[in-house]
Amino acid sequence: MRKIFLSIFSFVLAIHALAQTASVAHKVDSVIRLMTLEEKIGQLNQYSGDWAHTGPITPDGDKQNQIRRGQVGSMLNVIGVEHTRDLQQMAMQSRLKIPLLFAQDVIHGFRTTFPIPLAQACSWDMDLIERSERIAATEASASGIHWCFAPMVDIARDARWGRVMEGAGEDPYLGARIATARVKGFQGKGIGHTDAVMSCVKHFAAYGAAIGGRDYNSVDMSLQTLWQYYLPPFKAAVDAGVSSVMNAFNSLNGIPATGNAYLVKDVLKDTWKFRGIVVSDWGSVGGIATHGYAADDKEAALAAIEAGCDIDMESRCYKNNLASLVKEKKLSLQLIDNAVKAVLTKKFELGLFEDPYKFCDEKRENAQQNVAAHKATALQLAERSIVLLKNDLNILPVSKNVKTIAVIGPFVKAVKDNLGFWSMEWPDDSATIVTQWEGIRNKFSSDVNMLYAKGCNINDTDSSGFAEAIAVSSKADIVIMSIGEARDMSGEAKSRSNPVIPGVQEALVKNILATGKPVVVMINAGRPLLFGSIADKAHAILYTWWLGSQAGNAIAAVLTGDYNPSGKITMSFPRNAGQMPIYYNHLNTGHPAPNDSTLDYVSGYIDLPHSPRFPFGYGLSYTSFAYSDIKLSKTTVRPGEKLEVSVVVTNSGNYDGEETVQLYIRDMVASVVRPVKELKGFQKIFLKRGESGEVKFRITIEDLKFYNNQLQYVAEPGDFKLFIGTNSEEVKEASFKLVL
Ligand code: NOJ
Repeated sequence: MRKIFLSIFSFVLAIHALAQTASVAHKVDSVIRLMTLEEKIGQLNQYSGDWAHTGPITPDGDKQNQIRRGQVGSMLNVIGVEHTRDLQQMAMQSRLKIPLLFAQDVIHGFRTTFPIPLAQACSWDMDLIERSERIAATEASASGIHWCFAPMVDIARDARWGRVMEGAGEDPYLGARIATARVKGFQGKGIGHTDAVMSCVKHFAAYGAAIGGRDYNSVDMSLQTLWQYYLPPFKAAVDAGVSSVMNAFNSLNGIPATGNAYLVKDVLKDTWKFRGIVVSDWGSVGGIATHGYAADDKEAALAAIEAGCDIDMESRCYKNNLASLVKEKKLSLQLIDNAVKAVLTKKFELGLFEDPYKFCDEKRENAQQNVAAHKATALQLAERSIVLLKNDLNILPVSKNVKTIAVIGPFVKAVKDNLGFWSMEWPDDSATIVTQWEGIRNKFSSDVNMLYAKGCNINDTDSSGFAEAIAVSSKADIVIMSIGEARDMSGEAKSRSNPVIPGVQEALVKNILATGKPVVVMINAGRPLLFGSIADKAHAILYTWWLGSQAGNAIAAVLTGDYNPSGKITMSFPRNAGQMPIYYNHLNTGHPAPNDSTLDYVSGYIDLPHSPRFPFGYGLSYTSFAYSDIKLSKTTVRPGEKLEVSVVVTNSGNYDGEETVQLYIRDMVASVVRPVKELKGFQKIFLKRGESGEVKFRITIEDLKFYNNQLQYVAEPGDFKLFIGTNSEEVKEASFKLVL
């Protein structure tokens, strides 16, 4: 017995000595040589703790003793230095003392809550988005977290799907740029630094195309569509050095993504050479059997590990079946070793073998609470996420000299609804979240008479508060209304068949509009909602999404014009539920319907224009921007050449402001039908009123490539159109030719 103990002891000493010197690959191999099959499988087993439940709860099964026996490699939903240290101490009682990894869904901030990702995307501000993830990583890593399950980069064209809130919207180019910014933000100067976390891009792949917008539903699409639209943000994340990738819940063309060898093995690992960790989604290994692609958990485990899924999150299929699969010679030990290698490599790179408590520093944790600089970034990002959809008669910004303002609606004094889905819960939330009322009240001088009425709740049928809201509004010079979705109405498993403004809120707006007062409507939501009558009749509309802990201050800055809104939507806003999915970069048809024509035999609706209510890239400013004609450096482009493109943008209105100048192209004729427009570049330009600026873009052959019928990424010769403008519809146009 003593002998065994001594040899284990010397193993452990050997591991830790090795940790100081050899290369990571060498260290990993050395550890793997010491491991039993059970210990290896342990590294592939991930459990949830109790801090939050982000999936269907499974029986505890004595997790703590399993950790002590080396049967658990990582945990999610364990937060804070105190708790992560406790569990790490248990891991240090295991035979080989392999440290645990702690993962968490950090979707839009940790201690500091930023706007939801879809709102952030509307800023088109890569630096700011990266900075928000830098802050999230700094705060999370100080609380013992090594690994953030973000960014979510699923392309989303259907606002019925509740998870549109987590991504960047419908465009692959913008989605890829944002994916890169987020990965860089999370991973900072590289994992191993105490303020960096491993990033995890998800959900691989095509989860956003769930049929009918119903969460978890199957996906069926051509490989061309997959490569052209859905994969680019993942590829960008891999190129940016993302540490891990999460499988998706859906099946893709009949094969569950978690057991999909084409996706994980062929594309991700073999073609893209991804060497980090692939983690299943919650229970998605077991889900392979539920889908009907495997007879039972054992077959499901085999399908997943063979496809390349390294870690099983919460389904226990690996833990219960991998050993017998190896013993029965159905599974090669090599595949298990490969998966273990991926996990141990990251543990070494994080520095956890040298110091398992590297991220357990209470002082650092305490210092990351309520950091003023983090709040300032949250405010900046929240201001830039707000989209001005309408401003009839320029009723915004509200003059600071108005005498009486009525602020009406269930969001005015709401606290946590400002945070939205996938936000962390902290005991001091009510003290740190700036409500809309507080923000607005603080912004106007105390001479302004500020009135309030709630009017109604978010989602019920009670209209008993209308009378008071009407009476209050009647006394005001201007009415500001704040309505929308409660924080849990968009998010995972929050699909809505008809995502209208819930409850009686739209009726409340109608009643207030009937007072004849100028009415500004602010819509708080996790997705593009349907709000037809408001879109037609309200005098001004601000889409405020869920803006996070600085919501009140950001809204007040925009209402008063201290910040001139610059956000541009990154999902097309539909007119009604029947239009979904709707997206600007669609293919042409043989029966196009130009200008929303409803003529016979065109691809439109007889009861509705087919264009969106608000197009991709749309968003107003308090000022206006005029675009010159497009200048091209040449009209014929050959391989190796660059096409220089420029426009002059003039701030032709009365306020200083920022514009996001967007560039789209169209390949007029190709061997497969090409989209009517594709975003290929954008630039933000700040112009003082009256000022002009030249905006330049450079197009190369890379920007003209697409996946042909054989899935080759090629450019084909011929005519191209190029568009530059303020959104995907209002553009200037030019043409050029590609000669090969
Ligand atoms: C399920 C979600 O799909 C995924 O995004 C998340 O990371 C896991 N649950 C863990 O909470």
